[in-house]
Amino acid sequence: MHNITLIPGDGIGPEITKATLDIIEASGVSINWEEVSAGEKAFEEKGTPLPDEVFESIKRNKVALKGPLTTPVGSGYRSLNVAMRKSLDLYVNLRPARSLKGIKSRYEDIDLVVVRENTEDIYVGVEHMVGEDAAESIKIITRKGSERIVRYAFEYAIRENRKKVTAVHKANIMKYTDGLFLDVAREVASEYPQIEFEDKIVDNMSMQLVQKPELYDVLVMPNLYGDILSDICAGLVGGLGVVPGANIGDGVAIFEPAHGTAPKYAGKNVANPMALLLSGVLMLEHLGEVSAANKITSALQEVLVDGGSLTQDLGGSASTSEFAQAIISKM
Ligand code: NAI
Repeated sequence: MHNITLIPGDGIGPEITKATLDIIEASGVSINWEEVSAGEKAFEEKGTPLPDEVFESIKRNKVALKGPLTTPVGSGYRSLNVAMRKSLDLYVNLRPARSLKGIKSRYEDIDLVVVRENTEDIYVGVEHMVGEDAAESIKIITRKGSERIVRYAFEYAIRENRKKVTAVHKANIMKYTDGLFLDVAREVASEYPQIEFEDKIVDNMSMQLVQKPELYDVLVMPNLYGDILSDICAGLVGGLGVVPGANIGDGVAIFEPAHGTAPKYAGKNVANPMALLLSGVLMLEHLGEVSAANKITSALQEVLVDGGSLTQDLGGSASTSEFAQAIISKM
């Protein structure tokens, strides 16, 4: 029995969470879900969008499955996702993008993994106005931050039988920050002679991903490039609605889709639960429940190829719960 923290989230979160939980339960794995509220619901009930009990539960259980949370634009509270990543030091953002038959995209055999640094870079939020007509933002890259993310990428490559790690940077222009990241990447790479290593400048990498994605395998990079390139990779396999994600630290991991709360679909039972489901599959693999993970992936693959029970965003007319039922029937 695994104890897992569950954050259903806002908007479509509760519906896609129910679908995902039903499918995971049908796979036969035994999980005790500890549900906690964050986001709008917690804000209304407890006056804070991120109550202490959320952190306490995640720290206790070490693993969480999380739906999307609303971040108010402009005023209001700051991003809850960023707050969680910072306070739990979840320094890896893992974003695999793999082609699935039955999902329309321009390519058929994509199998890429973006390993994005999640705590540093220009995302530390140190920015200010300089007078009225200029603004400054500080980019922070450290040896420790670079080393642990590059090492994670190599350890992942070994564990998952991957062949190559590509470090992505702009060290030709940002000689100190990205230069440090690249130096550290080369040092760490020298400890893993069994894995091929190369580096690519981020603009070239973006073009290469669109033109020759089959040449790449595991990609590791600082926060900003990772944010952008992981969405490019998602686009290569059908978009944000069909790819999973995970935020991982030492001994703690939160599995969550990259998409948001899709407010226009909330409460209508039409959203696609696939990204959360595949995040759940990553979670099962992380827990060592590989056969349950494989069972779900095969059933999902069959439903996608059948094509008769797809949600609207995939060109079908099935509801969230019908899509989930179709997967459960295949299992
Ligand atoms: P969004 O991802 O919610 O929506 C973008 C587009 O994709 C919309 O057309 C939406 O309807 C569609 N979409 C997204 N997920 C879908 C699904 N599962 N099935 C079918 N269609 C889907 O992004 P948006 O509109 O920028 O953000 C809405 C809210 O979500 C904001 O409050 C934002 O802060 C929050 N957000 C939260 C994230 C998280 O908690 N990890 C990530 C991104 C956004």
